[in-house]
Amino acid sequence: MRPDPELPIGVFDSGVGGLTVLKALREALPKEDFLYFGDTARVPYGQKPLGMVRRFAWEIAGFLLRKGVKAIVVACNTASSAALPELSEALSIPVFGVLEPAAEEARPHAKVGLIGTTATVESRAYERFLPLAWSKACPLFVPLVEEGLWNDPVALLVAKHYLEDAPEDLEALILGCTHYPFLKETLRQVLPGVQLIDSAQATARKVAEALHTLGLLNPQGGGQTLHYVTGDAESYRVLAQRLGEEVAELKTVALSEL
Ligand code: DGL
Repeated sequence: MRPDPELPIGVFDSGVGGLTVLKALREALPKEDFLYFGDTARVPYGQKPLGMVRRFAWEIAGFLLRKGVKAIVVACNTASSAALPELSEALSIPVFGVLEPAAEEARPHAKVGLIGTTATVESRAYERFLPLAWSKACPLFVPLVEEGLWNDPVALLVAKHYLEDAPEDLEALILGCTHYPFLKETLRQVLPGVQLIDSAQATARKVAEALHTLGLLNPQGGGQTLHYVTGDAESYRVLAQRLGEEVAELKTVALSEL
């Protein structure tokens, strides 16, 4: 059965990383309403076993379905690596991940590298879509962003450490974690001249096209976003605001509700 086009779109991530995708979605689909779910009690996902992240993704998808959404955007590379295509095959609403759109953006480049969480890099999920010349897990990047340190000298130090063995002739680098676009300026300082591939716009374009094709665009949405978090609400609000997201409506969800 076709979902009601007036329902919101569910978007989820382990924390604030998915806000990069939410922003692009809002720009591409200004009339849509969104439910954003940040699993801040269990961030980071990237150091956890893939099977555990898969379970988290199922729990959150179930929660969003119970709230009523017409589509789900898995705005997290780790959860996309762990739970797609399985989730989209099982659910009756469209489910979108961030890997394929990023890979499509990167494909025209000759020599492509990947940075991501340990789980994403080790899953080799990106290699399903394109060959990689180099890849590196950067586990400290997510805590740096969640701590609000994306422009701090410590971020530059960590970026230099992770990227020191990147091939000199790398043409493009996939930011294989939705937290990493917040570190773009720092990454550009370390790898000047390398094209940084961020999945947000490409994912938003894909979602907009698919909703249009499926006749699921909201004719009269108000562009509202309701945020759900599993961790502390106030620290989420403050961090999200520093990242440019005004959080008007915010609810805390106990893990036992998932
Ligand atoms: N932002 C997520 C990703 O794209 C999750 C990072 C994490 O929680 O480790 O992989």
